[in-house]
Amino acid sequence: MKFLGTMKNVNGVLEIGGVSVNKLKKEFGTPLYIYDLEFMEKKIRDIKKTFKSEKFKTTIVYASKAYLSKGMVQIIDREELHIDAVSGGELYTILSSGFPSKRIHMHGNNKSFEELYTCVQNEIGSIILDNRFEGEKVSQICKKLNKKMDVMLRLNIGIDAHTHEYIKTSKHSSKFGESIFDKEIQNIVKNIIDKEYLNFLGFHCHIGSQIFDEMAFCEAVKIMVRFTKEISKKLDITIPEINIGGGFGVRYTAEDTDVDLKIIMKKIIASLEENCEKENLIIQNVTIEPGRSIVAQAGSTLYTVGGDKKTYGGEKYIFVDGGMTDNIRPALYSAKYESVVANKLNETKKEIVTIAGKCCESGDVISKNTKLGKCTEEDLVLVSCTGAYGHSMSSNYNKALKPAVVFVRDRDVYLISKRESYEDLVKNDCVLPKKIYNID
Ligand code: LLP
Repeated sequence: MKFLGTMKNVNGVLEIGGVSVNKLKKEFGTPLYIYDLEFMEKKIRDIKKTFKSEKFKTTIVYASKAYLSKGMVQIIDREELHIDAVSGGELYTILSSGFPSKRIHMHGNNKSFEELYTCVQNEIGSIILDNRFEGEKVSQICKKLNKKMDVMLRLNIGIDAHTHEYIKTSKHSSKFGESIFDKEIQNIVKNIIDKEYLNFLGFHCHIGSQIFDEMAFCEAVKIMVRFTKEISKKLDITIPEINIGGGFGVRYTAEDTDVDLKIIMKKIIASLEENCEKENLIIQNVTIEPGRSIVAQAGSTLYTVGGDKKTYGGEKYIFVDGGMTDNIRPALYSAKYESVVANKLNETKKEIVTIAGKCCESGDVISKNTKLGKCTEEDLVLVSCTGAYGHSMSSNYNKALKPAVVFVRDRDVYLISKRESYEDLVKNDCVLPKKIYNID
C-alpha cells in the first residue's frame, strides 16, 4: 500500500496525523473512517493555488456528495471554498452548519418544489437548472417570495469519457442536462433569459467522475467555450460564467496513474484561456466542482480482523468487521483498493487474500486477491483512499451501524460523527397497533 499524506510507520504501527491506529481503535472502535486533515487541506490548497487565471476569476465548489458532515462543511468554509448540494438532505446539512448561503449551489436532475423553495428562501448562490422545465418552477417560487435567483443551465455536451459506465454523465443517453445537439436548445436558453426573476449566469457541464484523461477536460472546455460564444451571439447577450464540473481522477491502486492535480488544473486553465482567445469570448468567472480529488486520498477505513478462512475452492478470506455497508464501491463499480495490516507493518510474510465483510452477500468484498501481510484475529486492517463516496454511500444493510468518523492532525483527534447505536437503527420505526397483529 502506498503511504498517503501523513501516514507513517512507527515501530511497525501505522500513524496518521501523528496518531497510532491502536489508539484510534481503542478510543473509537472499528470500523472507523479516518480523515487526514493536513492532507485534505493540502489538496484544497493545491487546487486553490493552481486553478487561477489573470484573464478571469475562478470559483472552486466542493462537491459535497463525495463526503459530507458538519465538520467537513466547517473545513470548506474555513478554506473559503463554495459548496454544492444535490438534495434537501445535503442542503440541510450545509445550512444547519451555518455555511454562508451565497456560497451554496444547488444541483439535481429532479429537484422537488420544497428543495427549490428552500434554495430561494435562503438566497443561495445559484441553482443549476437541469432541464427546460425547472426554470419555470424556480421562477414561480421567486415570484412568490419576491426574490431573484442566479441560475445556470446544465448541458450534456456529448463526451463519452473513459470511466466506469455508472459514473459517466455526458453520454447522449445520460439523464443529466439538456443536450447541446437538441434543436430546441436555443429556445430553452431564451426561455430562461426572458424570465424576470431569473438571472442567467451561464452553462454548466460535468463529463463524469474518476477521469484521468486530461484531454477529455480540455475537449469539454473547447465545446463549452464554443457553445457559450455561439449562444451569446445568437441571442445577443453576455454570458459571464462557465462551470465545467468535477471528476478529476484519483490514484487508488498501482493500476491507476498517479496524477498531479496541480498539473491537471494548470492544463484546464491553459485550455480555457486559449479557447476563449480563439473564440474571442470574454468570460468573467470559471467554476470547477471537485469532490473526490479533495477527500478520497485523505480518508482511510480501519477494520478489525475477525478471522480467516481457506475455502475448499482455494480462496483465502480475511474477514473484517465492516464491508459493503461502509464501502459499496467494490461491489458497485468493481473498485480496487490497497490495504495493510496496520498494527504489523513490519511483517514480511505476505499472502494473497480476499478481504471480505460481514454482510449476507457474496459480493461483500473490499479487496479481491490483494497482497496483505499475515494477520489473525484482532489485528487491524487499514484500507486506504476510502475518503470519497465511502461514508456518503454507506448503508444500514443487515442493520449494520454506520461507523464513526474522525479527523486527525498533529496528534489531535476530532470526533466528527459518532458511531450509530442500535437505538438509532429503530428510532423511526413505528409499532403496529395491537388490534392489527392481535387478531384471534
Ligand atoms: N459535479 C457534478 C455535477 C457531479 O455530478 C459530480 C459527481 C461532481 C461534481 C464531483 O465529481 P468528483 O470530482 O467527485 O469525481 N459514486 C461514484 C461517483 C459519482 C459521482 C457523481 N457526480 C463513485 O463512488 O465513484
